[in-house]
Amino acid sequence: MNNIKLSTKEKLKEQNKHETYESNLLEIENQVCSYGDTVHYAENPKFFTRCLGSFLFDCNNKPYLDLQMWYSAVNLGYGNKRINDALITQINKLPQLACQYLHYEKVELANLIAKNIEQRFGLKGRVHFNVGGSQAIEDALKLVRKNTGKQHMFAFEGGYHGRTLGASAITSSYRYREAYGEFADRAEFIPFPYRFRSTFRNDERKCEEYYINLFEKKFEHEYTGAWNPKTKKSEFGAFFIEPIQGTGGYIIPPANYFKKLEKICKEHGILIVDDEIQMGFYRTGKLFAIEHFGIKPDIIVFGKGLTNGLNPLSGIWAREELISPDKFGPGSTHSTFSSNTLGTAAGLEVMKIYAEEDYSEKVLKKGKYFLNKLFDLKSKYPEVGDVDGLGLALRMEICEKDGITPNRALADRMFQLGLDGNLKANGDKMGLILDIGGYYKNVITLAPSLEISYSEIDLGCSLLDQLIAKAKK
Ligand SMILES: Cc1ncc(COP(=O)(O)O)c(C=O)c1O
Repeated sequence: MNNIKLSTKEKLKEQNKHETYESNLLEIENQVCSYGDTVHYAENPKFFTRCLGSFLFDCNNKPYLDLQMWYSAVNLGYGNKRINDALITQINKLPQLACQYLHYEKVELANLIAKNIEQRFGLKGRVHFNVGGSQAIEDALKLVRKNTGKQHMFAFEGGYHGRTLGASAITSSYRYREAYGEFADRAEFIPFPYRFRSTFRNDERKCEEYYINLFEKKFEHEYTGAWNPKTKKSEFGAFFIEPIQGTGGYIIPPANYFKKLEKICKEHGILIVDDEIQMGFYRTGKLFAIEHFGIKPDIIVFGKGLTNGLNPLSGIWAREELISPDKFGPGSTHSTFSSNTLGTAAGLEVMKIYAEEDYSEKVLKKGKYFLNKLFDLKSKYPEVGDVDGLGLALRMEICEKDGITPNRALADRMFQLGLDGNLKANGDKMGLILDIGGYYKNVITLAPSLEISYSEIDLGCSLLDQLIAKAKK
């Protein structure tokens, strides 16, 4: 029904109807839905009924500016017409097909991804699709094991690679493993160069040196448990990295850190698996975030933004030597929905959109504008301890008044107040969708739509300003 034509009284009646319906549904949800997902992280889980561009809308048509875009899955905005149309065309043409058969979009998309990677890294390789990010991580683990014969991996403290058993084993939080028994293949977690929380906060070079030395020392002698100097073999098959830590709090490493890490890995026969599930598809102003750091990964894992959050699709790309048919033959890994026709059609349209415009320039420019505004907030509020960003992957670390002690309670209040939807914008009420990450759960990780307008960035920063002021009270 069109709310605009209703009188105030009728509108209130409609609102009550929707709200009663939702509270009944919530009661049902409470009884029949598992609490095992992340819905009940929130005290009062919320329904949304519509989405468009940078906004979600509740049952009363109240807008919520989304500065997290489904953890960076919806990079090109909600309800993107071109991608929706591609999906509709596919629904009318070939909506379903068992993955044992070929369809055009699968091959065209794999080709586009492989060609883009070849252009950027000068490497030939192949693509293997799956459905979710964690499943693609599992595929990458299988590929590493197949090629190296090793089940032990390096990964970073603060890293997040998913919650299937294999992905949990290389994700640093013990919280995700604690209740699930033995993880014999648990990764060895190396400290990530997190400059703001290191002793070298104001010295990028020293921070880089310190953290790279920590890793290099693993290979100094045999007693670190990582390396046998006699056989010149490492016990580790690969290092799983996120170029910018996502769930870890959008932490950007020093500029040359990964180059040095790559050198150490190469010298010791350790593959580099680049997890781009959250930072890929121009989030940072490059197709893949690792491009900022000048290294050539052996395997790239992607998901989320590939379909702009429509039909799920994820995948891995690997160097030809690792994934050639003699190494990774038919049936090496498989899922019923792995290269589904709807996902590949959406992914293909996403890749075409990125090819038509200079997203690099656009995202870096918007990111710079947004970051400057975050610096203004940092100057205004001592509780904003750190702000940083690369492209439109931005962070705001919420602290005590000293600007360093993590203040999780304040970040949580900001998150909740944003969701309550009582902020002011243009004489109306509005909500703000945020996500909290970071080692101390005090970092607001901002991943707005890459299509966000400058006026929406201004709006977002004014809402953040209101939020901090309100949450402090
Ligand atoms: C870097 C990274 N890797 C892996 C995953 C897991 O992906 P999924 O949730 O699709 O299984 C995520 C999800 O947040 C992620 O951010």
